[in-house]
Amino acid sequence: MFPTDRPRRLRTDAVRSLVSESSLSASDLVAPVFVDATTDERVPIESMPGHERVPVDEAAARVEAVCETGVEAVMVFGVPASKDARGSRAYADDGVVQRAIRRVTAETDASVIGDVCLCEYTDHGHCGVLEPDAEADPTLTVRNDETLELLAKTAVSQADAGASMVAPSAMADGQVAAIREALDDAGHRDVGILSYAVKYESSFYGPFRDAADGAPAFGDRRHYQMDPANRREALREARLDVKEGADVLLVKPGLPYLDVLADVRREFDRPVAAYNVSGEYAMLHAAAEKGWLDLEATAHESLLALKRAGADLVVTYFAEDLAERL
Ligand code: PBG
Repeated sequence: MFPTDRPRRLRTDAVRSLVSESSLSASDLVAPVFVDATTDERVPIESMPGHERVPVDEAAARVEAVCETGVEAVMVFGVPASKDARGSRAYADDGVVQRAIRRVTAETDASVIGDVCLCEYTDHGHCGVLEPDAEADPTLTVRNDETLELLAKTAVSQADAGASMVAPSAMADGQVAAIREALDDAGHRDVGILSYAVKYESSFYGPFRDAADGAPAFGDRRHYQMDPANRREALREARLDVKEGADVLLVKPGLPYLDVLADVRREFDRPVAAYNVSGEYAMLHAAAEKGWLDLEATAHESLLALKRAGADLVVTYFAEDLAERL
């Protein structure tokens, strides 16, 4: 009890870094990169200042710039030249992401994680094959089991191109098992699965949907992504993915879901990732632009909070900017 007990003693400049419980380093960060088959120039993403979509020819240069900051891993998202009902450009050998992964792995030392989803590739913008009447009937959306096969093909084509991990984000039940089996059958036993095990139906994805042109043309994703009201269900989702063979468990979004992140950390022995999503990035930029927040300080604190809550690694649009200063 006071005056004997004085927590302030541990906050002096001489001591505080020795006793700090969490830290951030560039090697914990994954930088998202957008590759666009519809352009031969870099296109700035308005709602995500500092980010751009790059043509395949510039993918390696883009990733090289990321690596120069000390960040060692990127997650690649694609905007295809054309879209159709079954998202066929997601699993084409000459798809935008497959071509980009080939170039990046040949020309840089980055480890490449492929985002495995169909929403950027389907003309309806949903994450899988639709029920025939989905557009007219808001109670219907994606056909789960038919979608699994396409996600598995997508993952295999990214592994063929050189991805070191694949990251299924479609929230289809059974997606990890389907992908694990397909990867093994294709001889990719050492390609890991970073599963978006716990992905909420969040409004914080707004800017990303502009960036990757993946907004649903009608309806929303509430029938396949998780209800933001639910906490216990996150453990169920993560448990299923562990059983199905996930190597890393990701929680998304990040900051609004620190309770969930801490739960997943406590419950499982797998590495845990947090996705500091586009809306979290856009909020800080918008406030900083108005002079209301210090961008660098709030970005650093955000990522530290994710580490403190239990993340081993963080996917973040701040990766490059922060790594440069770490
Ligand atoms: C789906 C996917 C999304 C994000 C990553 N992968 C969008 C969605 O589910 O609507 C969002 C990432 C972000 O907001 O930063 N391919």
